[in-house]
Amino acid sequence: MSKNEERNRAVAAARDYDPSKVEFLEHEFETYDLLREHLPIARSEVSQGVGVQGGNVGWVLTRYDDSCEVLRTPEDFSSQSMDYPVRAWIPQAIDPPMHTGYRRMLNPLFTADAMTKLEPHLLEYAEKLVDEMLEEDAFDFVAKFADPFPSAIFCELAGFPAEDYSQIMDWKNTIMHANDGHPRGRELACARAKTMGLELGDGDALLPETATAVAGTTAQEVYAYFGELLEQRRANPRDDLISKLLDTKYQGERPLSQEELEDTLFLLFMAGLDTVASALGLIVQGFATSPDKRREFVALMEDPQKLGPAVEELVRVHAIVPLPRRVTREHSFHGALFRQEDMVTVPTMAANRDAEEFPNPHEIQYDRSPNRHLGYGLGPHRCLGIHLARRELRIALQVLHRKLPDYHLDPDQKAVAFGGMKGLASLPLVKG
Ligand code: HEM
Repeated sequence: MSKNEERNRAVAAARDYDPSKVEFLEHEFETYDLLREHLPIARSEVSQGVGVQGGNVGWVLTRYDDSCEVLRTPEDFSSQSMDYPVRAWIPQAIDPPMHTGYRRMLNPLFTADAMTKLEPHLLEYAEKLVDEMLEEDAFDFVAKFADPFPSAIFCELAGFPAEDYSQIMDWKNTIMHANDGHPRGRELACARAKTMGLELGDGDALLPETATAVAGTTAQEVYAYFGELLEQRRANPRDDLISKLLDTKYQGERPLSQEELEDTLFLLFMAGLDTVASALGLIVQGFATSPDKRREFVALMEDPQKLGPAVEELVRVHAIVPLPRRVTREHSFHGALFRQEDMVTVPTMAANRDAEEFPNPHEIQYDRSPNRHLGYGLGPHRCLGIHLARRELRIALQVLHRKLPDYHLDPDQKAVAFGGMKGLASLPLVKG
């Protein structure tokens, strides 16, 4: 194909860029490579950012350096980037300097030391789930392990009662996965839209205004639920995040308002339930289709010096988050004119496969060094849950592969992927 034809393909790919569509995932990395080579700062006609309501020009960045620059410059690229159901989430949708105060307050709750204390419990729970999963020769890894492991741990940590677990997952799926190919998310969102008397739309996707209304009403329920739990913990504090949030002070001066408490819990709820599950699903899917890479991992995983870097490399290759930002002032960005209110998407999965930063970017190299990947973000909003996520991934992968070193995709059933903050809704596997 000539350079001109390639460039035209890149222009078309940028124009239609929509990572929330499952079809996009089929040629995701090829598209990012094409864009990086021909249009690294690409203009899209699809409105970018989860739930952003029409009109804004979208840009997609595929170079590592450009991505770092955007994430490190919150004054030009705001995280207040969409219409939030109810209110903006704390701290993810708040810009510095306010954001800095929230992070100072939240960081002590998620330190490496605090998360290390959870390790025996993580190990015990992972072993229980894997043992139950392996009672069958064929099983859905997402339903039996990737979803429940981090989600139940997070609910426990937060202080959400165990009996509310399936309700919590349904709320999360309705809000996060109405329109990204996740079957349960769509089913729940459609059912709710019907009870609200809303129009569904003809195609596969719910009408955007319907999805927004459904997310809004569902979020109201979640907020009411948080309100009740906060009330209970005020009366009877426990050793959980809800009680700790009630105890913390913004800038060491004032307690959080009821709204701030709810908006913080809401973000933790969204971030704590889906992320590790998605990363685990994608990593294990990769292992099921690349037995050599799986065996290489199994051979190194009992060496603590090698395991940490290996898990980082898996997070680089299986990055899940396209990060949205909103341009705060008109300016030229490496030759492109960004106007105020334009949306910029930084797909971490594209930056993480830029050959300028990561030689042989599509290849897993367990000892890759340096490995400054953006899987957990960068700059002021870098993942608050990173120490928990790392421990969950490490322990989950160790326990699984100690008990089941060999497995493959179930030839009779298909894995189901979803887009946006991408992941798998199901991953049918067979032992051996
Ligand atoms: C493999 C698992 C995970 C991945 C790949 C991941 C990825 C990310 C990324 C890319 C960001 C940056 C967002 C942005 O710049 O807008 C982020 C932020 C965040 N993550 Fe994670 N995350 C993971 C696990 C978790 C867990 C388990 C928690 C919960 C405890 C968590 C809580 C958060 C919070 C609260 C933020 C917002 C931080 C801020 O805005 O200052 N994450 N995460």
